[in-house]
Amino acid sequence: MSTAYSKDEIAALQEKAKRHLWLHFTRMSSYADSDVPVIVRGEGQYVYDQRGKRYLDGLAGLFVSQIGHGRSEVAEAGARQASELAYFPLWSYAHPQAIELAERLSAMAPGDLNRVFFTGSGSEAVESAWKLAKQYFKAIGQPNRYKVISRSIAYHGTSMGALAITGLAGIKEPFEPLPPGGVRVPNTNFYRAPAFVADDINAFGIWAADEIERAILREGEDSVAAVFLEPLQNSGGCFPPPPGYFQRVREICDRYGVLLVSDEVICAFGRLGHYFGSERYGYQPDVITFAKGVTSGYAPLGGMLVRDALMEPFNEGQATFLHGVTFAGHPVSCAVAMANLDVFEKEDLLGNVRANEGAFRATLEKLNDLPIVGDVRGDGYFYGIELVKDKATRETFNDDESERLLRGFLSHALFDAGLICRADDRGDPVIQLSPPLTCTQEHFDEMEQILRAVLSQAWTKI
Ligand SMILES: Cc1ncc(COP(=O)(O)O)c(C=O)c1O
Repeated sequence: MSTAYSKDEIAALQEKAKRHLWLHFTRMSSYADSDVPVIVRGEGQYVYDQRGKRYLDGLAGLFVSQIGHGRSEVAEAGARQASELAYFPLWSYAHPQAIELAERLSAMAPGDLNRVFFTGSGSEAVESAWKLAKQYFKAIGQPNRYKVISRSIAYHGTSMGALAITGLAGIKEPFEPLPPGGVRVPNTNFYRAPAFVADDINAFGIWAADEIERAILREGEDSVAAVFLEPLQNSGGCFPPPPGYFQRVREICDRYGVLLVSDEVICAFGRLGHYFGSERYGYQPDVITFAKGVTSGYAPLGGMLVRDALMEPFNEGQATFLHGVTFAGHPVSCAVAMANLDVFEKEDLLGNVRANEGAFRATLEKLNDLPIVGDVRGDGYFYGIELVKDKATRETFNDDESERLLRGFLSHALFDAGLICRADDRGDPVIQLSPPLTCTQEHFDEMEQILRAVLSQAWTKI
């Protein structure tokens, strides 16, 4: 199928985009003198722009397209559902698609996470988890517990509550004051570990986990409601947990009666070779928030999976969790999620990630011979490559250099070379990769070759 648009169609779309469309987290001025990138079609691991040029989707859209693009069986499941019942709310009613999906997710989820509260997005899932924690503790007679602990540089979404949990000062500042109660602790970036634990990853993990305990004690142990952690922290460039970290965090949460929320908006649904990231690292959360990969993006959906016990106070008398959103558990999205999970099973996508993740890592690690590559880290199909000015000292780039390197060169150059990935400097400068779970060695090689060529050039531009 040809995807190339005519010259006139391209010009018309560009004009309308520049006149009327507002892109998210985007400096719109950067498109004043250049085209807005317009993606028109996807197939497997690749997407195509309006000129028909092909790109390897090394980010799965935005950590979303687990099964890859262009799966007609998933699209058709959505179309069938829209014909049968396009919409009905989950406010006082249910529909079969939400019921079936809730049951399926509960069966897949670790331990006693048996209840699903659907949302439309990841931010709504995080927002819902905080609201549940607050109302739950009020309901069980601990009304002072409202604070949430999360890690520095971690991204948990953009709605006001989720933003208060997010650990990125730069994207919070314009919206201050945010809801009170967000408390920050160190993340698990071992490459930048404090000197006293820099040589011992186990000691580093214990220190980082114990920082959560210290924060609980500092804030007042009866004031903390929840700890929000991603299994593998995305923002900052893929920080895996050190060995034993989550086990210690679990103990600390139990000791102080604090809920452990595993924010798996990225890490669930195969990204780390398991349905849930908490399974990969062997810990039991009280709540899992999810979105993105649950539908592979064929329709929007999010939600939280909670322990039965968290719903108990809401099962009595007039008690109600006073929260909901119109499009949560949308029938089309739930039908699409079921079809998406069928693909996971039929094609053993978890098996594919587990079988190939070592090869993915080894291929990316070849880039370690480049002077600009400081660290290659991650797990599963989720990697960050930290860029440095000096490999020996690990010196990073200053703001001006980072600006020139990432926005002035790398983002465009990688895209022009046919690779969609993310060049980010919300922490230290990194390139992130999170490709569809169907990728194999040929795709890893393509990523490595493009990165090698572009990063070698980048070195000459600093
Ligand atoms: C860990 C995490 N939580 C929450 C969110 C917010 O999800 P959404 O963009 O669907 O609102 C994201 C988005 O990338 C995320 O990575």
